[in-house]
Amino acid sequence: LNHIPSVGSFGPLGSYWTAIKSLTNSPKIVQEGYNKYKAAAFKIPNLGHWVVVLNRDHVDDIIRASDKELSFHAAIDDYVRPVYTFGRQIIDDAYHYSIMKSQLTHNLSAVVPDVADEIVAALDETLDLTENEWKCVPVLKTVEKVVCRAGNRAFVGYPLCRDSDWIELNMQLTNAIIKEGFILSLFPKFMLPLAARFATKTTNRVKHGARHLSPIITERLKRMEEYGEKWNDKPDDFLQWCLDEGKETSADLLAARMLAINFAATHVSGFAFGNNHTTFAQTLYCLAANPQYIQPLREEVQTIVGKDGWTKEALAKLRKVESFLKEAQRFEGNASLGIKRRALKDITLSDGTFVPKGTYICVASHAIHHDPRIYEDPDTFDPYRYMKLQEKQGDSSRYQLVAVNPESLMFGIGKAVCPGRFFAAMMLKLMFAHIILSYDLKLGDISYSASLCIGPAIVANSSAKVMLRRRSDE
Ligand code: HEM
Repeated sequence: LNHIPSVGSFGPLGSYWTAIKSLTNSPKIVQEGYNKYKAAAFKIPNLGHWVVVLNRDHVDDIIRASDKELSFHAAIDDYVRPVYTFGRQIIDDAYHYSIMKSQLTHNLSAVVPDVADEIVAALDETLDLTENEWKCVPVLKTVEKVVCRAGNRAFVGYPLCRDSDWIELNMQLTNAIIKEGFILSLFPKFMLPLAARFATKTTNRVKHGARHLSPIITERLKRMEEYGEKWNDKPDDFLQWCLDEGKETSADLLAARMLAINFAATHVSGFAFGNNHTTFAQTLYCLAANPQYIQPLREEVQTIVGKDGWTKEALAKLRKVESFLKEAQRFEGNASLGIKRRALKDITLSDGTFVPKGTYICVASHAIHHDPRIYEDPDTFDPYRYMKLQEKQGDSSRYQLVAVNPESLMFGIGKAVCPGRFFAAMMLKLMFAHIILSYDLKLGDISYSASLCIGPAIVANSSAKVMLRRRSDE
């Protein structure tokens, strides 16, 4: 990779030093390369290998490349080792991806009321507020639980989504998989089957999940046999869509699938350590730090939800809420380097940059989201930015929360673009709108930064707290 310029200290020791600095300072180092090399590719050292960092103008090359040229899965395989941490059948037949793209996305109207109900119950229980009481709340921890319960209402349905043991199993999943994946990454490929036996708890996890799912599956299969494809109170959840697919009926296989879905919903973005909950926690900090927006947002929610209720149609009309959420995602971000891919063949990008087989590439997404050539006054948090852009440019779809393009990379782009983003956006809007409507919030005595950097991942600051009080005039 000598033909690609690098950022950071020089020489073999220098590059190690830059890689170590990147553990806590990645956005600054990437920004340095972005400013220095403008539209050209540059490379930065990671512990163990180089990462070629691409720019906005290269994004079309990524979109055009086939999976056999630039692969998302090959890039994450190295540190998640999904064959061993989830099970081979999940990777060999990832039919749950098409369910995410079809049923989960197309059934949002049916899913919204249930997920809304779960958010209300989960917040009530987790916050446990008495009337007029201001409580200092650890945001990330609270949000993590609410997101897990709300997600599982759509994945496995009620009442399992409220089972504390199931929720705990799924909340611990991300850390467990990342830890196991890291240990496995230290072994050569031929030793993985043996190493996995000692380094992973995949079988235990699956058995644990299967104990919860087994009675539910038995009951549902009985109903399917009795009533065929449709019956009156047929569940509209991921588990049922998997059963309808008819590929797996064993509790073990379906438990492994449900764990993989839970992991995807909280991790997967390639680097980030959390998606829905970290995004939502960052949004709440942004709101607490900018309390002047609470009232106008509340008025919007009151007017629209007051008239239409918690429906998909009402959520689509919450333009201030949507703009706020997207701006919080842009401003805070989930990774200094997004769109992680590995070249499975030699390729030449449209500007002539040669990327040899085996190279890891990424896009400088945080720098792109803060580029003054793309966003006016990019270092200012402007919650109505996307709403104003929509009005100015008359293009409603380009600035939606779920929209992806080379200037809006929060959900990735191209072949691996997040298939759960419509569901994620729905959950984010529901949670945000419900909190605005039902709670007062403010920063505690200390103001925290909303995010922390762990390598290229930008995550919600786990020690940050906000003050919450239940509103009496809901
Ligand atoms: C705010 C929440 C979320 C964010 C910010 C997010 C972001 C991302 C990003 C950045 C990627 C990588 C895309 C790329 O590199 O091009 C991704 C992939 C993925 N996401 Fe999400 N995601 C979120 C929620 C969800 C949810 C709720 C689900 C499931 C219901 C989900 C399922 C997936 C899956 C399965 C992939 C892998 C796609 C593939 O392998 O082709 N995500 N997500």
